[in-house]
Amino acid sequence: MATPRTVAIDGPAGAGKSTIGALVAERLGYLFLDTGAMYRAVALAARRGGVDPDDAAELGRIAREVRIAIGPPTVRDGRPYTVLLDGGDVTWAIRSADVDRIVSQVARIEAVRDAMVAQQRALAGRGRVVMVGRDIGTVVLPDAERKIYLTASAAERARRRGEELAARGEVRSRQELLREILRRDRLDSERKVSPLRPADDAIVVETDGLTVGQALDKVLQVVTRTEAGQTT
Ligand code: DC
Repeated sequence: MATPRTVAIDGPAGAGKSTIGALVAERLGYLFLDTGAMYRAVALAARRGGVDPDDAAELGRIAREVRIAIGPPTVRDGRPYTVLLDGGDVTWAIRSADVDRIVSQVARIEAVRDAMVAQQRALAGRGRVVMVGRDIGTVVLPDAERKIYLTASAAERARRRGEELAARGEVRSRQELLREILRRDRLDSERKVSPLRPADDAIVVETDGLTVGQALDKVLQVVTRTEAGQTT
């Protein structure tokens, strides 16, 4: 089996990047880093500090000063990993509707991205890492040996998000979730700095209608094969 040093997985909100990425990392015995959780932690810190999500200078300062740590789950409550913000457990707090609403705004600020990308590159330096996000294959790790662009239709992604929230007791209408997904797609792909797009050498994996197991198999095939360079 040919295993790459680094695996980059990008794609829009709700495509299954975190679920699939964590499973791929587990299979390979690699470190898993969900970079979306880092932007979410900065957004949460901004909210808690009463900072306007349009205040670029203040958000940049927060991004440089907060301590974000992502590691294996410390509580068995269904979480794929634990996220600490200045030592406090924010694993679920970063998934709240409040954070959902402002995170794309926070993530488009250059100073925030600079601070996050520096940390992400440092973490990937030793290799054996699966990193997921929006700009991993294009900006953070342009030399990653495997690049996957995981995607699904907006309707499918809204459905999955609804199920995920329902499992945690939060009921939201499918229409509202679809609107949110489309809004975040737009903000993530139209921003000036590091917009969401597949890297030229990424392999696109569509997951509509696939179970988690099927999507995982598809991604593992791409990750472990010797030659990359085609759409699946
Ligand atoms: O993957 P997610 O939904 O948890 O990401 C949260 C937000 O962070 C999303 O709006 C896009 C942004 N993000 C980004 O700009 N770059 C990344 N590498 C990861 C996430």
